[in-house]
Amino acid sequence: MTLTFKRAMEEKKKRVEECLKNCIKHEQGVPGIIYEAMEYSLFAGGKRLRPILVMAGCEICGGDVSRVMPLACAVELIHTYSLIHDDLPAMDNDDYRRGKPTNHKVFGDGIAVLAGDGLLNYAFEVMLDLYPLDGGNLKAVKEIARAAGVTGMIGGQVMDLMYEGKRAGLDELKEMHLRKTGALICASLLAGALSAGCSDAEYENIRKFGNNLGLAFQIRDDILDVIGKEETLGKKVGSDVSKGKSTYVSILGLDESTRLVKKLINEAKESLAAFGEKAKFLTELADSLIDREF
Ligand code: IPE
Ligand code: IPE
Ligand code: MG
Ligand code: MG
Ligand code: MG
Repeated sequence: MTLTFKRAMEEKKKRVEECLKNCIKHEQGVPGIIYEAMEYSLFAGGKRLRPILVMAGCEICGGDVSRVMPLACAVELIHTYSLIHDDLPAMDNDDYRRGKPTNHKVFGDGIAVLAGDGLLNYAFEVMLDLYPLDGGNLKAVKEIARAAGVTGMIGGQVMDLMYEGKRAGLDELKEMHLRKTGALICASLLAGALSAGCSDAEYENIRKFGNNLGLAFQIRDDILDVIGKEETLGKKVGSDVSKGKSTYVSILGLDESTRLVKKLINEAKESLAAFGEKAKFLTELADSLIDREF
């Protein structure tokens, strides 16, 4: 990992943190607990990968990053909501997230459900700040809406529940991972690109990159569920395995899963060839996910 890349990551992350602070305005008369619950999870220290991908998708297509910050914030708001709901007793029933007790452990199941719902609605409110709200920006909003919805993340989460205690085939597993995690990751890149006015060819190359990156990201998540360290991960290790989830490690084993992550990242990078030098940041980012520890 080069120093330039590390600095660029840190800079982008900082910018995201600043913008996220302005997304939720406390209003009089609204029960304070809902703000407390939303902010508890939103500012618990995630990697901010998805917003960084929005920014990078914009940059690789020659756009102005300051214009895509509403999209960047929106994908993190949606992602955080998905984590709160994913951890609920009715779903993965997890106690730790981002190094802290899960939302429902602190605020109770009801408020956790509502905090997730609240974050999702803020995502769409924030995206209405895009300017101008037409053309590429509208396409970007639609891309995110579809990826977060039943054709994307929600559909994947449904599959995840359906396969609990059952053994999914490789095709189903791939489909599930592409939807539950790949879709939002891919849409983040595409939203940035669309807002920057990408061409059809650029869109297609970024879509291929994003799908492979997203799948690799979730396979690595499955791997970390087995070999990760709790202190670094900020969540319990062995959580998915103990619930009889179908994961890449449970189906393919550790070695094969590790090889597959590398293969998918290489394939992803090939899709960026046409961008030449402009692909440098995303290429390094893709490489950094191969052996990420958190
Ligand atoms: C965790 O996502 C859930 C998955 C989709 C695998 P991240 O690993 O991006 O979690 P944070 O945002 O850094 O907490
Ligand atoms: C999460 O997958 C996918 C989401 C859409 C939130 P996991 O259930 O494997 O994520 P972790 O391991 O709890 O972070
Ligand atoms: Mg889950
Ligand atoms: Mg989970
Ligand atoms: Mg997991």
